[in-house]
Amino acid sequence: MQKLLTQSEWIDRARAVLPAAGFGNFDPGIIISHGQGSRVWDEGGREYVDYLIGSGPMLLGHGHPEVMEAVLEQLPRGMTFFANNAKGIELAEAIVEAVPCCEQVRFVASGGEADMYAIRLARAYTGRDKILKFEGGYHGMSAEAQMSLAPAKRVNFPQAVPDSAGIPQGVAEQMLIAPFNDLAAVEALLTEHNDIAAIIAEPLQRIIPAQPGFLQGLRDLCDRFNVLLIFDEIVTGFRLAYGGAQERYGVVPDICTLGKIIGGGFPLAALGASAEIMRHFDKSAVGADGWLMQLGTLSGNPVAAAAGLKTMEVLGREGSYERLRALGRRLQDMQSDALSSAGIAHTICGDETLFDIFFTEATCRDYRSAAHDDPSRNATYNAKLREAGVFKSPGKLYPSLALSEADLELTQAAVEAAVVALGQP
Ligand SMILES: Cc1ncc(COP(=O)(O)O)c(C=O)c1O
Repeated sequence: MQKLLTQSEWIDRARAVLPAAGFGNFDPGIIISHGQGSRVWDEGGREYVDYLIGSGPMLLGHGHPEVMEAVLEQLPRGMTFFANNAKGIELAEAIVEAVPCCEQVRFVASGGEADMYAIRLARAYTGRDKILKFEGGYHGMSAEAQMSLAPAKRVNFPQAVPDSAGIPQGVAEQMLIAPFNDLAAVEALLTEHNDIAAIIAEPLQRIIPAQPGFLQGLRDLCDRFNVLLIFDEIVTGFRLAYGGAQERYGVVPDICTLGKIIGGGFPLAALGASAEIMRHFDKSAVGADGWLMQLGTLSGNPVAAAAGLKTMEVLGREGSYERLRALGRRLQDMQSDALSSAGIAHTICGDETLFDIFFTEATCRDYRSAAHDDPSRNATYNAKLREAGVFKSPGKLYPSLALSEADLELTQAAVEAAVVALGQP
């Protein structure tokens, strides 16, 4: 029998073979052993209520019985084919039915890939090159997306700052950066540059909500200047509402990207738009010059499609989103009440389905304003939550539908302990 390793032995093994000791995603000081329902366990045997939920996909919790059944039904029938398959077609149909801007979809394997193709599609459709992106907006890891996500230096808008080494300067020159929630800045850029293909935006930027009228304002400006609007709904799709942020806010983009939930925890993402825009994926419709070549080994793989379809079916049932919002509200209130009673300045930033706390009194409006007055408070708060059995990212809290009363009670106790720690010198 294989010897059971301790968590620190796993950490040592990871350090030897993985740069920065990890996959690049999350704190490499914790190794997750398994997850079930609302909980995860680490290799040291510690149990946590999971508010990371795989960075979003596991909205129903880990190992949801109906999703498991759908996956187990598919597995012996084949894991991936590269060829069209019925599950992938059914998933495309379900997305088209749910998401207002999608008449057709194309599958890829990750959200970042979907965003990369969305940008390319906008360029192919308009014949223009420039992309307007918001500072702090995250759209995966393509060269275009890695511009002014978390800029190391403050420069004047609309200059783009590469977030990563290895990106040619030429890419920065094709990007225009604006502050989120600033329609006047967007209008000025559209007036000044007549070579903009698209505006790409997260309708909820990380956790910063669009102010009333901002998304509709973007829509109107795009129509006026004949520019495409791309909503990155990798996170918000099937989370803010069944039809995503575009349903919840009533603003329909030209192109959207979807990921996370639609793969049910497996590698699958998509981009969708009207048939007129999507015809650029069809060489016979647009000819060689307008054609956007796209393929991928795992695109539309049937296991991911089966998991995503079942996840969407469960989410589509009566009351799912009301329950998710009620859970989120309780989690917001319990933290806000505890921090307010201790006299600790804070702002809850986000949507009930995805939010976090900023230790500041300022409202979060854009990348520069959404910051902690003292980042060490955030570090202490999150470390104490983790110690008390709450697993979350340092910048987000994702409620899941698997949460129980016992989970909320444990979380309440963890919050109270973390607030006490914040009050200590
Ligand atoms: C808004 C947004 N866009 C794109 C991505 C990239 O998705 P993936 O990690 O599947 O490449 C993410 C991932 O968190 C995201 O939050």
